[in-house]
Amino acid sequence: MTGDDRVLVRIRGASVNALDWHLMRRLPHLISMLLGMLRSRVRGADMAGHVEAVGKNVARFKPGDEVFGVGLGSLSEYATTSEDRLAAKPRNLTFEQAAALPIAGCTALQGLRDKGQVKAGQRVLIYGAGGGVGTFAVQIAKSLGAHVTAVSSAANADLLHSIGADRVIDYSKEDFTKSGQRWDVLFDIGANRSLADCSRVLAQNGKHVFAGAPHGLWALLSRLLKAQLMSRSGSQRIMFMARIRHEDLVTLKELVEGGKLSPVIDRQYSLREVPDAVRYVGARQARGKVVISVN
Ligand SMILES: NC(=O)c1ccc[n+]([C@@H]2O[C@H](COP(=O)([O-])OP(=O)(O)OC[C@H]3O[C@@H](n4cnc5c(N)ncnc54)[C@H](OP(=O)(O)O)[C@@H]3O)[C@@H](O)[C@H]2O)c1
Repeated sequence: MTGDDRVLVRIRGASVNALDWHLMRRLPHLISMLLGMLRSRVRGADMAGHVEAVGKNVARFKPGDEVFGVGLGSLSEYATTSEDRLAAKPRNLTFEQAAALPIAGCTALQGLRDKGQVKAGQRVLIYGAGGGVGTFAVQIAKSLGAHVTAVSSAANADLLHSIGADRVIDYSKEDFTKSGQRWDVLFDIGANRSLADCSRVLAQNGKHVFAGAPHGLWALLSRLLKAQLMSRSGSQRIMFMARIRHEDLVTLKELVEGGKLSPVIDRQYSLREVPDAVRYVGARQARGKVVISVN
């Protein structure tokens, strides 16, 4: 292990994110170059497991503790990280379930609570509700007291109602941008509708928070540019990248232990099957999270 500030984790569960798919595609485009600094020989970030060893400056954890969080190269048996990016594992989750939480859970939490500033009684629309981030977002918006509309394919309707969505819009049958309805916060993970279309559904002072990245470099750059221009003109468009922080992991743990948040797991793979797991996530049809069991 390297570094006095590092924590070595023996991984028991990991999960796959869209970012892992982007990094593994090895496309020679700018995103890969920009993300190059994140590349390691072994991929993955989300993890849960036991603390194996700690550097001398680490105060929060000791060997044997059960933890979850983010480390570089979590699709493997061991990874190191800093204590700021870990928290004690929720008592009522398996390691695989806990590993589903960090990136997708922090994205949903920060997008709704911090960027969207969702308040009780507000109307929130989650676009792209059926996936990893979306299934956390529905539950977190509910826990903040919002009235939640989830946009997804019909196949996910029962699941989304069961985790708290008040209303589910099947995007193959109804275009939410033409419904005439308004929402206080549009949490946009689907990322394939134009900013102008999304503007139409915002209530007065409504916020369009987008975390999703359109597939394709030019679509992404164009969206970033437009969002930048619009935010300068005073509109409430917020694009953000989630940060993994100890306090937010603790909030997720408390929500889980309080029965307000539960990871939705679509598929579980073994470490040997990671390429299949990443391909499945890349197809963008996952229902909740895809996790890896590391035994
Ligand atoms: N900003 C950040 O910090 C951050 C962090 C994590 C993820 N992200 C981004 O957020 C997005 C979602 O991540 P994720 O982990 O939730 O991905 P995911 O688990 O792969 O989500 C896939 C979901 O997207 C939905 N979807 C696919 N095509 C759609 C369409 N045409 N219209 C509406 N929904 C569609 C699917 O639902 P249906 O079955 O209903 O089609 C599926 O459930 C990705 O772009 C990812 O890169 C950003």
